Amino acid sequence: MLRLVAVLVVLAALLTGSAPDLHPARGLLAPTPPMGWSSWNRFGCAVDEQVVEQAADAMVASGMRAAGYRYANVDDCWMAPVRDAAGRLAADPVRFPHGIAALARYLHGRGLLLGLYSSAGETTCAGLPASLGHEDLDAATFAAWGVDYLKYDHCGSDAETAPARVQAMAEALAKTDRTIVLSVSDLGQNEAWRWGAGVGAQLWRTAPDIADDFASVLSILDRQAALGGYARPGGWNDPDSLEVGNGGMTEAEYRAHFALWAVLNAPLIAGNDLRSMNQDTARILLNPDLIAVDRDWAGVSGRLACTVGSVQAWVKPMSDGSAAVVLLNRGASPAEAGFAARCLGLPANGPYLVRDLWTGQQRETVALHYGSVPAQSALAYRVWAAR
Ligand code: GAL
Repeated sequence: MLRLVAVLVVLAALLTGSAPDLHPARGLLAPTPPMGWSSWNRFGCAVDEQVVEQAADAMVASGMRAAGYRYANVDDCWMAPVRDAAGRLAADPVRFPHGIAALARYLHGRGLLLGLYSSAGETTCAGLPASLGHEDLDAATFAAWGVDYLKYDHCGSDAETAPARVQAMAEALAKTDRTIVLSVSDLGQNEAWRWGAGVGAQLWRTAPDIADDFASVLSILDRQAALGGYARPGGWNDPDSLEVGNGGMTEAEYRAHFALWAVLNAPLIAGNDLRSMNQDTARILLNPDLIAVDRDWAGVSGRLACTVGSVQAWVKPMSDGSAAVVLLNRGASPAEAGFAARCLGLPANGPYLVRDLWTGQQRETVALHYGSVPAQSALAYRVWAAR
């Protein structure tokens, strides 16, 4: 399967004239969008080893690990304010008293992977020591600790310096004996979707920081409409981690947020407190049909296919010929979703097999009627042309 995906990536690159990422050590490090959890949205700088270990335990107990969530990512503020005597980054001695290697062992022992954070400037965005000028040493340190994923922020760099700085870290990581996913985090400011894969990254941010409200989800979504063509197996657009379960949106809004991230092949990185997650949140994060949409092996991003009034249809072509369809009502009142089959990329005439990706109900129908979409919410379907 991986070989087939690699061949398709090369073919796509040849057809579009873009340079494929054929670095042997980097090969398809992220054949599907990475899934996991990150400390940032919920904990910010108040992250500590107990929070991360308890999040990891919750990933196992809740079924998230089994559903594909593998990375436990420690974001900014894990490091001590000064490097150690040998010039190496060191963990904050109060919040990570056992160090990062011990945390990696804890996660690896539970079948999980460790993500860590640094920045392509002199300091991180929170003002702590970062990796500019220390790329080789920091990459070697991360590898020795057992890190599996590096989120690489942008503070202190700009559009001109960013590509070379990210490349320096990618090359430093490639010199180590670990395979470490590299995720560019620059708020989408430097258009890393254009150069990220070329310099050796597997993910790149396509938007500013997400906030726990629906307006933020919609404004990030609007920035994704033109970027779908940059996502592919091995290199993914990252509209930022999830806010599902953090309390600022309704359940319907969180469902819409998750379904939209799934049709965009976004990395599914939960950002809530997994230790106190309720049933509604778990049901959203564990939705197997939407996870399957997100991880479809062909990795073709969903796009905004059509708009009728306040309802948008975001459609992702699936590798089995079906279409994943998210009908998003951005308005404040319920609205009819009257979309022609052709607009959704489906044959004009049925029958169709339609699966509701929230209820799991499946029905065969000759004509597509989606009915009314409640205000500020999204319906999600997978549609197969039956013939
Ligand atoms: C921002 C980044 C956030 C978070 C924060 C940490 O630049 O977009 O996701 O990592 O820095 O300071």
